[in-house]
Amino acid sequence: MTRVLTLAGILLLAVGVASCRDYSPQEGPDQPIAFYHSVHAGQNNMPCMYCHYTADRSVDAGIPSVKLCVGCHVPGSSNQPPENATLAFPAATRNKFWNEQATKLVDYWKRQQAIPWVRIHDLPDHVKFPHYMHVNAGLQCQTCHGPVQTMNKVYQFSSLRMGWCIDCHRGQMPISAAEEAAVKRNSSYVKRLASLRAAGSDLRGHEAKWPNQRASTDCVVCHY
Ligand code: HEC
Ligand code: HEC
Ligand code: HEC
Ligand code: HEC
Ligand code: HEC
Repeated sequence: MTRVLTLAGILLLAVGVASCRDYSPQEGPDQPIAFYHSVHAGQNNMPCMYCHYTADRSVDAGIPSVKLCVGCHVPGSSNQPPENATLAFPAATRNKFWNEQATKLVDYWKRQQAIPWVRIHDLPDHVKFPHYMHVNAGLQCQTCHGPVQTMNKVYQFSSLRMGWCIDCHRGQMPISAAEEAAVKRNSSYVKRLASLRAAGSDLRGHEAKWPNQRASTDCVVCHY
């Protein structure tokens, strides 16, 4: 009897664990338009930087303008008055909900209004986070933001706590082999250490402690 109970318990536990994995409670806030990353970056394979095009040259990755959206959804939008704009796709026959959402997009365009997207990530004001340093070092968006191309409503994937930043800077957070190789090549911090070493500095103490350090951990690097 005990044995049966234990077995049943284990089975229940296993089912519990499996269903926990399947159920994803992580979902971002409702947005003024139900814009799906899964449709754009997923099904249609649009590169992240097609829309977030300042990520490699600015502190902010940036949120695309309505103009960029209607560039696809209202062909010819750049040489006709906005009030004449009509949605080219998705058609209501394709997907009624999608059509309603994309119609809202055209309405913002007609009114020449910005879409009041709800901000998801927001570091405190005393912290600096330069996107371009990270992107140019060779890190993938997904390493920090998770599988955005599968998300309907984007949510915050990483904690964004100081410990999270430091873990990666010290080389203790695993990243892919390709990213690791790119960081070794591109990081100004790694280059600085290499030139110190070449100039004869003894870095053995540091290297024994943080052999894979990728970026500085000086307070002033991240704090104002
Ligand atoms: C078609 C344009 C488009 C593409 C392609 C796109 N995004 Fe976005 N992204 C947006 C828009 C619009 C928002 C604001 C609305 C929202 O949060 O969904 C946004 C929001 C985000 C946010 C949250 C911003 C915040 O408020 O903190 C992240 C993170 C993000 N995108 C990452 C990505 C990544 C990673 C990819 C590639 C896998 C990607 N995006 C592809 C348009 C795009
Ligand atoms: C490069 C072209 C392109 C750009 C730029 C683009 N879209 Fe789309 N959009 C598509 C395609 C393709 C689909 C899918 C249509 C289908 O499968 O019928 C789509 C679908 C949609 C849908 C319905 C599915 C969903 O996500 O809810 C909405 C709403 C939408 N887009 C809004 C936007 C907004 C807002 C922007 C700007 C941030 C934008 N699109 C930028 C090509 C684009
Ligand atoms: C090393 C981690 C990291 C990488 C790599 C990274 N991000 Fe971010 N991202 C962040 C953090 C942290 C924030 C919050 C910044 C803030 O609040 O000031 C953020 C914020 C954002 C936002 C919100 C709006 C903005 O302009 O800041 C968008 C959009 C975004 N990231 C997109 C991307 C895209 C697209 C890529 C890849 C090209 C990318 N990120 C790569 C960590 C990262
Ligand atoms: C790699 C970036 C980075 C470095 C280096 C860094 N910090 Fe931070 N720090 C952050 C981030 C991000 C936050 C905000 C998130 C949080 O509170 O965890 C933060 C928050 C803080 C806070 C506020 C904590 C709170 O609870 O409000 C203090 C104080 C602080 N840091 C002190 C320091 C000191 C002192 C150093 C140097 C020894 C340092 N930080 C180095 C990224 C960094
Ligand atoms: C996945 C790894 C990773 C994460 C997570 C990460 N960083 Fe970085 N960070 C890097 C790399 C790699 C560089 C490039 C170092 C270089 O070129 O000197 C960098 C550079 C920086 C720089 C510029 C340093 C300099 O010397 O000018 C700042 C500031 C910074 N990160 C802040 C942050 C903050 C704040 C967070 C957390 C909110 C964070 N980083 C999270 C890997 C990461």
